[in-house]
Amino acid sequence: MALKIFYLLSILFVVVSSEPFRFDNYSLYKVLPKSLKDVKYLQELQDAAPEFDFWDDPVPTADYINIVSKPELKKDLESFLASNEIDFVITQENIQELIDNEKKKTYTRSNIRTMEFDNYYTLEDIYAWLEDLAARFPETISIIIGGTTYEGREIKGIKISHGPGRRAVFIESGIHAREWIAPATTNFIINELVFSDDEEIKAAARDFDWYIFPVTNPDGYIWSHVGFRLWRKNRRPFGNEFGVDLNRNWNDNWLKESANLNPSSNTYAGPGPFSEIEARSLSAYITDMADKIDLYLSFHSSGQILLLPFGNTTEPLANYYDAMKIGRRAMGALAFRYGTPYTIGNIAEAIYFATGTSVDWVKERLKIPLAYCYELRDRGQYGHLLPPDQILPTSEETMDSVIEILFQAKRYGYMRGPE
Ligand SMILES: *[C@@H]1O[C@H](CO)[C@@H](O)[C@H](O)[C@H]1NC(C)=O
Ligand SMILES: *[C@@H]1O[C@H](CO)[C@@H](O)[C@H](O)[C@H]1NC(C)=O
Ligand SMILES: [Zn+2]
Repeated sequence: MALKIFYLLSILFVVVSSEPFRFDNYSLYKVLPKSLKDVKYLQELQDAAPEFDFWDDPVPTADYINIVSKPELKKDLESFLASNEIDFVITQENIQELIDNEKKKTYTRSNIRTMEFDNYYTLEDIYAWLEDLAARFPETISIIIGGTTYEGREIKGIKISHGPGRRAVFIESGIHAREWIAPATTNFIINELVFSDDEEIKAAARDFDWYIFPVTNPDGYIWSHVGFRLWRKNRRPFGNEFGVDLNRNWNDNWLKESANLNPSSNTYAGPGPFSEIEARSLSAYITDMADKIDLYLSFHSSGQILLLPFGNTTEPLANYYDAMKIGRRAMGALAFRYGTPYTIGNIAEAIYFATGTSVDWVKERLKIPLAYCYELRDRGQYGHLLPPDQILPTSEETMDSVIEILFQAKRYGYMRGPE
């Protein structure tokens, strides 16, 4: 199995200049395990060779595993896979090309309409847009601050409210920095709630208070723009390493599954539960308004999966069966527009055992009635580098599903609307 070679070649990504790290000739693999033996070999590879960026954990339920390899290691990866008879395709030969095509347009401050959905925006642009919305619609929109970051930034969001006495929908995205489609989709949801002429969307905007935070890991998001496109964690330093996986840091079953205590890992859970100011301060914000929240949504990529609590067990805990029924209807609505198929299940059954996540925490500690986590498009072709021409369709279908969740949740007695 020649695993030794990977130890020897283990060189961590280091960014030396002020230019973003380049991924020239780095390739994206879609590996297709077909047996438990394949999964076991891939797990060994993941443990032994940290220089491969596994976007998915090799678990028995996985249809595919996305892996990024640097050019020097492609031969090694391919011979490892071939010698173990594990199927794979290279979906992107050179991911730098995808990154170049993300063409970051700048948002023009004076014109609110220039937030478009064929482009990924910087944190600065997103925050400026939110502020413009609040300035333009002071009766209904206000800026909210959900917390702060290690580097001292604000976790800025928006509240949309058409009056007192309403129940709340809470949305967070961008806790994993490189999953750019998540903030983009959240921005689209905001845009629809503010500008749509659709009666159902207008009613949704009117009937609930919306608390929306497009980027809950601002330091990491900035780093994914200016330093390292594939950055996932926050930016707190630990010796020579950086960052905690903020979606393993919440204080529910912390460190039990798919998380670890190694700061060089992409799933480093941090030195303790809520050790990270981003997760801790946002959780305090949510706690203060918990009794208002009927629905909690968290957006990630990728895999086209709708996840519900919990990640520590496949047992159907809490209101699992209702949440599944509502979720299935919502994914039916999502597929209606473009046929995009989603899988649905609790975190442990649908992807892998993973704990310390925001949705588990709000469900267990705050007893939020409905909590869902979306893994948005796609299924292994582009992964976290989803091309900008998929922002709009992804956002539209997701918005359809959010409206359907509200509708079904009402039917099942979960959403009360204005009192
Ligand atoms: C990428 O690969 C191509 C084709 O093998 C090669 O011509 C090119 O020089 C490589 N680019 C870099 C930056 O290594
Ligand atoms: C899983 O986590 C939930 C929420 O913290 C808890 O209620 C349940 O007992 C746990 N189950 C197992 C099998 O660990
Ligand atoms: Zn994620």
